[in-house]
Amino acid sequence: MWVPSRLRHRRHAPVDMGAVPVIPFETVREKAEGIEGMLSGFSVQVMDSVLTFQRAVGSNGGILEFGVYKGRSAAVLSAHVQPSERFVLVDVERYVDDETISGLFSKPDFHLGSSEEFARSYPHYSDLKRKIRFMHVDSSHSYRTTLNELKLADALLAPDGVLCLDDFSNLHYSQILPALYKYLYRTWTDLRVFMVTDAKCYICRRKHFDRYGSFVLNSLLDEMGKRGNRHVTLARTDVDREYRAFYLREKTEPDEDDLYGRSIYGHFYEKP
Ligand SMILES: C[S@@+](CC[C@H](N)C(=O)[O-])C[C@H]1O[C@@H](n2cnc3c(N)ncnc32)[C@H](O)[C@@H]1O
Repeated sequence: MWVPSRLRHRRHAPVDMGAVPVIPFETVREKAEGIEGMLSGFSVQVMDSVLTFQRAVGSNGGILEFGVYKGRSAAVLSAHVQPSERFVLVDVERYVDDETISGLFSKPDFHLGSSEEFARSYPHYSDLKRKIRFMHVDSSHSYRTTLNELKLADALLAPDGVLCLDDFSNLHYSQILPALYKYLYRTWTDLRVFMVTDAKCYICRRKHFDRYGSFVLNSLLDEMGKRGNRHVTLARTDVDREYRAFYLREKTEPDEDDLYGRSIYGHFYEKP
């Protein structure tokens, strides 16, 4: 049945994100900042917002990270793990100490090993297939490793799962870009980029693009504001059936509009 696009968009009206009991953001931020690591304050705010949204819409299954270092990003992830969910941290080195692990909001299963070997070396690998609702990749950033991590994400992400890929536009690691787009456009995959920031790329499955796109469009600026950052702008300057991601960044001028180029690109902000 044909449904006008105006009505289709209504299916994704703003979700009441205040309705889920979550650990207060200040507590999460303090815990993360107390651990040495590479995750910026901005990324803590964005990741916490996306994870809170997943809770609000009932996503469940498990959280997985490749590249733990001393546990900063793991601290943010740990605040969102539900009792029924698996929480797996993977690193080739054990930089994270026992005190940090026991101070996380949820107890992880720490696996010493590489992402390349994970499918063979992690004993519960098959239990994770299509169950992971949030996967954070922040490991070697090399070309082959990234390609393999995208393949893993395809196998492990739940239908409504999110892959968060670190440093994808950091040109010190320029190999991540070709690895990502080779995988997305040369492989039979339903993974789609729904949002990029200066640090990370957020990817979901095609069927859930509208869900996450609506969240970005309708709720993310408010969620960033609730986390103490009201100076953020959203940009979208093209909508193509092959690519229609949003870009979230900090404002460069205090009075900058919330939507980049609204007078020219306004129609790209009307629906996800
Ligand atoms: C940038 S650090 C991670 C930072 C961390 N996410 C944080 O929030 O501070 C990268 C980590 O990836 C680990 N690593 C490198 N290659 C890896 C691989 N192939 N598989 C899993 N972990 C890897 C390193 O040992 C290091 O701890």
